[in-house]
Amino acid sequence: MHSIWQTESAGIPENRKEFEHRADVIVIGAGLAGVLTGWFLKQKGLRPLLIEAGEPGCGQTGNTTAKVTCQHGAGLDHLIRTVGLSRAGQYVQANAWAVREYENLIREKRILCDWKQAASCLYTTVDSLRLEREQKAANRLGLSVYLSDRTELPFPVTGALYLKKQGMFSPLKFLDALARELDIMCHTAVLGVEENTVFTERGEFFAEHIVMADHFPFRIRPGYYFMRLYQQRSYVLALRKVQEMEAMYLEAEPNGLSFRAFPGGILFGGCGHRAGKIPEENPYTVLRRKANRFWGACREEAHWSAQDCMTMDGLPYIGRFSSRYANQYVATGFGKWGMTNSMVAARLISDAVTGEENPWKEAFSPQRFTPRASLPGLIRQTAVSAKNIALRLFEMPQETADTIPKGKGGIIVYRGQKAGAYKDEQGNLYTVSVRCPHLGCELQWNPADRTWDCPCHGSRFDFQGNRIENPAQTDITLSCTCSADD
Ligand code: FES
Repeated sequence: MHSIWQTESAGIPENRKEFEHRADVIVIGAGLAGVLTGWFLKQKGLRPLLIEAGEPGCGQTGNTTAKVTCQHGAGLDHLIRTVGLSRAGQYVQANAWAVREYENLIREKRILCDWKQAASCLYTTVDSLRLEREQKAANRLGLSVYLSDRTELPFPVTGALYLKKQGMFSPLKFLDALARELDIMCHTAVLGVEENTVFTERGEFFAEHIVMADHFPFRIRPGYYFMRLYQQRSYVLALRKVQEMEAMYLEAEPNGLSFRAFPGGILFGGCGHRAGKIPEENPYTVLRRKANRFWGACREEAHWSAQDCMTMDGLPYIGRFSSRYANQYVATGFGKWGMTNSMVAARLISDAVTGEENPWKEAFSPQRFTPRASLPGLIRQTAVSAKNIALRLFEMPQETADTIPKGKGGIIVYRGQKAGAYKDEQGNLYTVSVRCPHLGCELQWNPADRTWDCPCHGSRFDFQGNRIENPAQTDITLSCTCSADD
């Protein structure tokens, strides 16, 4: 499953085989946040070194729908009430700046990334009052939004809230253009960070400042980000033979549908759920059924899924990693809005490294205290972790290798032990440990993607146990590959 961005991206050649073991700043992760941070630091005259476990943009940057907008769902009214007008205002201003900064950067550097200015639209088919509240909140925060009942969508709506002059682009074409100018050490897993040292598979690297931009921070302490973050999955179809569409649309209800054009088609997404909480029906099947209803015989060019880090109060964590280390920074928890928040992260962190004041830092500070907004999520997160550790320790499954049908997976008893099992269409059996190597929760089988997903913090592994998503740093053990003849 490759996204359309991954199919069209040529990638970048690794620019050097050997790297100096000392840099001004080490940035862990070469997704959009890491590359933009590296690029900003370089513009300020510093020597950054990026360290990436895979290749630039191989994580969420390649799986996004790449809407560049500061209209981030129907959450502004709630945000003002929970974190206050000042922090909500900083969040909106920072993201509005990010949209303009993309435009400037793409124009100045003449980056060929299919940038297109477009309106962003929140729509509802049920409760237009919600959009009216959202309009008032957006206006209070300085966004010029307007309500309408017209859209280009293939069904009627009861309300549509528009914000003009936002944008969309091909994220990997953009990322490749900047990444080529940076020192990026690819295919290198980071094993640990201490003070000024980054421990990797290629030895130790030293820098005055260290930035963690690796999606979900893998370090347990300090920071305790595993208690403050969870992950959300969502699914996308790239469709052709559909109508043309100019604006970018998002349903205002939680986990609603998303629409945006790409050259020659539409990206149609939705069916979001907490990572590791497996939906009853395959999300791709649900999306395909809806697509057929909307557009008849459309053609599917690609399908893929994405995973987003969510914070408890809805604001990202960008700034000092913990109060203990003045030289370590983090950028995570972008919600579903990684494009603009990556740009904001680059500005905030590069300003912090060079000691410049930044007007938005309070809203994004990982050390902020927002009990009203965070407490319900913290309680929920603790309960999910406790439940899934207990599940692994105390509940034995009924299934065995014999009862798992071909093409299916699940938790079984195998040789007297609990194990995860997947049986392919030929009847070959793959069994793995169901203990998540991050903090020990029980993994769940995800039939849509044929992966093992962790409900606690969203680590994912393929059916052979290879790690796909952090915060786990290692694979899970493949205990048996048994052919159908065994
Ligand atoms: Fe944290 Fe699995 S991702 S326990």
